[in-house]
Amino acid sequence: MADAPLADVIVLFGGTGDLAQKMLFPSLYILDADGFLSPGLKIVATARAHADTAAFAAQTRKAVEARGKVDDAVWERFAARLEYVEGDATTDEGAAKLKAAIGEAKLPIFYLSLSPSLYIRVCRALGHSGLAVPGSRIVLEKPIGRDLESSKEINAVLAEVFPEQHVFRIDHYLGKETVQNLLALRFANTLFEPLWNNLTIDHVQITVAETEGVGDRWPYYDEYGALRDMLQNHMLQLLCLVAMEPPSDMEPDSVRNEKVKVLRSLRPFTRADVAHNSVRGQYTAGVVGGQAAKAYEAERGQHSDTETFAALRVDIDNWRWAGVPFFLRTGKRLPDRRTQIVIQFKGVPHSIFGDGAEADLVANRLIIDLQPDEDIELLLMNKAPGLSRGGMRLQSLPLSLSLLKAYEGPNARRRIAYERLLLDVIHGNSTLFVRRDEVEQAWRWVDGVAAAWADAGMAPKPYAAGSWGPAGAFALIERSERVWND
Ligand code: BG6
Repeated sequence: MADAPLADVIVLFGGTGDLAQKMLFPSLYILDADGFLSPGLKIVATARAHADTAAFAAQTRKAVEARGKVDDAVWERFAARLEYVEGDATTDEGAAKLKAAIGEAKLPIFYLSLSPSLYIRVCRALGHSGLAVPGSRIVLEKPIGRDLESSKEINAVLAEVFPEQHVFRIDHYLGKETVQNLLALRFANTLFEPLWNNLTIDHVQITVAETEGVGDRWPYYDEYGALRDMLQNHMLQLLCLVAMEPPSDMEPDSVRNEKVKVLRSLRPFTRADVAHNSVRGQYTAGVVGGQAAKAYEAERGQHSDTETFAALRVDIDNWRWAGVPFFLRTGKRLPDRRTQIVIQFKGVPHSIFGDGAEADLVANRLIIDLQPDEDIELLLMNKAPGLSRGGMRLQSLPLSLSLLKAYEGPNARRRIAYERLLLDVIHGNSTLFVRRDEVEQAWRWVDGVAAAWADAGMAPKPYAAGSWGPAGAFALIERSERVWND
């Protein structure tokens, strides 16, 4: 990749907020500790909360300490970069204060760690006030809109102020080491790619299960639900990385072009097939990890039609994947925290082992665990040890990479996804960020699912907190004689 110029100031909107304090500042501190921040890089945090730089730095140090050990010398260097600007950047006064704080810096990054409802206003203000200068970059968190129309509105305003190559739309899943490892697994090994198609693969499962409930995030969540909160972004990104064609290199557009092609090949849902191919659920009271958990509606305080669980059978209409269903499942208040991709291969075409071993034969399966444990297991058939009357007995055994044991030394620590992403923004590398057409294509497809649900009058089915979702989620996959890898 051609070297983009290094940013020299990060302006963090919403600097006192949860995301900034829990993820962004700890990540920036670690980047500094690891020697990744250039000496001149400034960090300007801005928010409405009343504070001065010293008080803000003290608060931020506590947040960084909550993630791990802080070294006094590194902290001193890091704190010297910090400046806090109290105010509202959408006013003339606020913008003037920010300009003063940015000072001589020439290449600012504007990180909007804000409610998406403020994106348009803040972006316009950056344009009007002249804070956005040629070359400056803007970083936004998901969700970019709530549907195609609202995402287009945001993207249009972004485009008035920033050229697309300077817009960094974050999907924090792409910052996870294990998610990037999917690219390495597929494209740095000769082993899998020849098998990665409908001749050999039976189906794919992608599960993102959480034990946490929605809790006090309901004002946001109730507007979005599992489909828009998890599926439109994180899960479709995982699907794209599994399903895309090999890009010619790791340039941002090479990778993103291939992902867009996958999104364009997703078969739209229709009113006629939506009940057959999808399940919506909402958790009721139950027990998770031995603790009583409230129903979603009790957290919400009233009746709600928002889904906290979604399972979908997705078909990708292209040559590689025709006839290979992708089963996607995500939910809150499930029994386990687990992000897992399962590549289920087809069975052998003919068994030579006779009747006794017929029942032993299990088709190969590649299990990629992304969270909480990182592991890659390939289930292979072996001869069962020992003697038996009649024919040979067989046994399926895992070939396991045990990634946690394999990663030793300074790289053993699990990195925060934002470390990678912030470093990439500073260097101007957008490979791991979501391009405008990508986010819009994902919304186009998701809007189709939401519209089909509405047309078919599909209300979420209840499931007890601590269970694997409504019974329909099992039926969804069993209809095609497959089962979830639980
Ligand atoms: C966020 C969603 O994008 O991702 C949350 O808004 C969800 O609802 C979170 O809990 C999951 O992220 P992770 O990294 O904990 O898997």
